[in-house]
Amino acid sequence: MAGMFDKLTIGPMVARNRIVRSATAESLATMAGGLSPELLGIYGELAWGGVGTIVTGYMYVAPDGKPSEGALGLYDDSLLGHLRSLTDVAHENGACIVAQLVYGGSKSKLSADDSRRLQPVDAAAVDGVPNTTILGASAIMHPRTHLVPTEATSEQLAALADAFGLAAMWARACGFDGVELHVAHGYLLSQFLSPNFNKRADEYGGSLENRARLAVQCLQAIRAQAGLEYPVFAKLNCCDDWDDPAGQRGGLSQDESAQVAAMLVEAGASCIDVSGDWHTASQAVETGEPYFATFGARLAGELGVPVIVTGGWRDPDTITRHLESDGIAGVAMSRPFICEPNLVNRWREGDSSASACIECGKCQQYVGIPCPVREKCMA
Ligand SMILES: Cc1cc2nc3c(=O)[nH]c(=O)nc-3n(C[C@H](O)[C@H](O)[C@H](O)COP(=O)(O)O)c2cc1C
Repeated sequence: MAGMFDKLTIGPMVARNRIVRSATAESLATMAGGLSPELLGIYGELAWGGVGTIVTGYMYVAPDGKPSEGALGLYDDSLLGHLRSLTDVAHENGACIVAQLVYGGSKSKLSADDSRRLQPVDAAAVDGVPNTTILGASAIMHPRTHLVPTEATSEQLAALADAFGLAAMWARACGFDGVELHVAHGYLLSQFLSPNFNKRADEYGGSLENRARLAVQCLQAIRAQAGLEYPVFAKLNCCDDWDDPAGQRGGLSQDESAQVAAMLVEAGASCIDVSGDWHTASQAVETGEPYFATFGARLAGELGVPVIVTGGWRDPDTITRHLESDGIAGVAMSRPFICEPNLVNRWREGDSSASACIECGKCQQYVGIPCPVREKCMA
């Protein structure tokens, strides 16, 4: 398993191994998005458990872009003081730590009493009335949240790119080893890429180049604010053909996603983190292989930057095989670390049995990432 324990180098960031804790929102931040003692404990345990790099749960860069209750925020300098203790706890325990930056948009899971939820939850009653507090590519109702965002103006989009840039500058000042721009999973930046959500007729809609413009501008703003060498990951869906609000195919294709990855690299991304949606993942599960490994190998061959592949990694032999043969730089896992924060140390110490995760979905109820297997594992 030598490959797994080789160092992972992304620009000036050198991690102790090639295993990454994929961004996982623990939903334990304060109302304002600040760090809580519980979160500090989770990150300390993860770093102590041997993982090379920890990507934080998503951190919202503007108050109206909060993706779910309990998410961390990075939109105001009053939040910075405590974040230094988060990066310290990772570094003291030998891990690198990367801040994931997001704007939620209409996929945001707002609680019923959230002041931003100006629309009733009932889809029939929404009737296309845009929610003026949430930005979108187009005023299209989200199929799951039933939120209809306001079509963002180009001035609002420029301000959003600046907010990403500022957040990256703050992340660097707080000691994060890098940032990850969240362009995946149907949040705002990935909605812009998707013809299902983006029906714009201006320079942000239509051609792939136009649909990728916002993500490219956010990346450029991050580069401008955080410096040329600072590690910037971009997490990208390999496709999003499930995200069609009408439940039909026709979103971002794999070929288009590969072109977007190249555009993001051109704009300054140091690393691409390959992901996708649950639909694509569940199709892959049938093959028994990690969900997006094939697409990850393709990108690793096409791009001149390190590629990390997220999703479905469970056993060390499979990880080693793909690290050795696919040209990828690292693999990222989320749920396996929820039940076993010490998974990497366990593997390093010679117990190479697969992750104990049973994929029951309990952790996806989000608050505090509950896990029925964890107690047994940690006993
Ligand atoms: C509880 C939970 C919270 C998550 N939060 C985030 C997040 O904040 N940002 C993100 O990009 N992905 C998030 N994900 C997705 C994971 O990063 C990962 O892409 C997905 O779970 C597949 O990897 P796995 O098979 O190793 O779990 C989350 C997943 C879970 C289970």
